[in-house]
Parts: sequence; C-alpha cells; structure tokens
Amino acid sequence: KKLALINGANLHLLGKREPHLYGTTTLHDIEQRLQAQAAQHAIELIAFQSNHEGAIVDFIGEIGLLAARPVDGIIINPAAFTHSSIAIRDALSALNKPFIEVHLSNVHAREPFRSHSYFSDKAVGVICGLGDIGYDMALQWFIKNL
Ligand code: DQA
Repeated sequence: KKLALINGANLHLLGKREPHLYGTTTLHDIEQRLQAQAAQHAIELIAFQSNHEGAIVDFIGEIGLLAARPVDGIIINPAAFTHSSIAIRDALSALNKPFIEVHLSNVHAREPFRSHSYFSDKAVGVICGLGDIGYDMALQWFIKNL
C-alpha cells in the first residue's frame, strides 16, 4: 500500500515557527517518524511539502490519476491553504481516495477565519489541536483501515 503525507505553506519552518502554537518538532522529524512507522506495516509513505498551491495540485495529480500505481490515501495539513484553496480541494476530489486533514493547532480556538476549511466536509476525519501526534493518529487510521 502507498500513502502520501502533504504539508502546505510555512510548514517547512516547523520547530522554529511560533513554537507555542506549532511545537518544537521539525517537519523532517515528523516525516521520518511516520515513514518508519508506515514501513513497519509494509506501507510506502511519500512526503511532500510546498509553499506553492499549484505545486501541491501538481503533486496530487502525479501521485494520483497520472500515476501507474496511485496512492491509497493522503494525510494532509494544507496549512493556510485550508482556508483558501478550492484548487487543492478539487485535486483531492479528482483523486477520489480517502484523506485525513491534520492541523497542529486548534484552528477553532484562533482567529475566526481559521474555522472554515475547504477540506473538512470531504475528509474521512479531521484532527486538530493535538500537535504533531495528530499526524501519527492519522497514520494509525490508515494502518487499521487500508
Ligand atoms: C495549521 C493551521 C492553519 O490555520 C495555519 O495557516 C497553518 C498551520 C496548523 O497546523 O495548525 O499554517 O494548518
């Protein structure tokens, strides 16, 4: 089986970026941890981060409809694109595979504009406010349900 872990804008700065909100663990650490955990269950996990909306749309196409062996599911933290991107939403709808939306912070306890997501109604589930273990929980769901 094959999964993708996708992180959006500014998440390459994890560990340094507003650590009171987003924690001190780096994205590299999270990606390595999830890849190791996935490998134990014979799952290949491809990690991708971009600050560019179109690059994420391209990536979802490449690992999805354009791939010889498409991914079976996606764990995604769209970051700021959560609140703005119809294009990434449409890319996930086109792919038509289960995805889980993760946020490190509790988006509902922050500015009101963070409460709206273009992804949640299409997601299998949404995990927010639990820090980086939210990613591990999403992977656990796929391990159990793939
Ligand atoms: C975030 C929450 C978003 O509102 C914000 O734009 C981010 C990170 C989170 O993980 O808490 O960049 O997705």
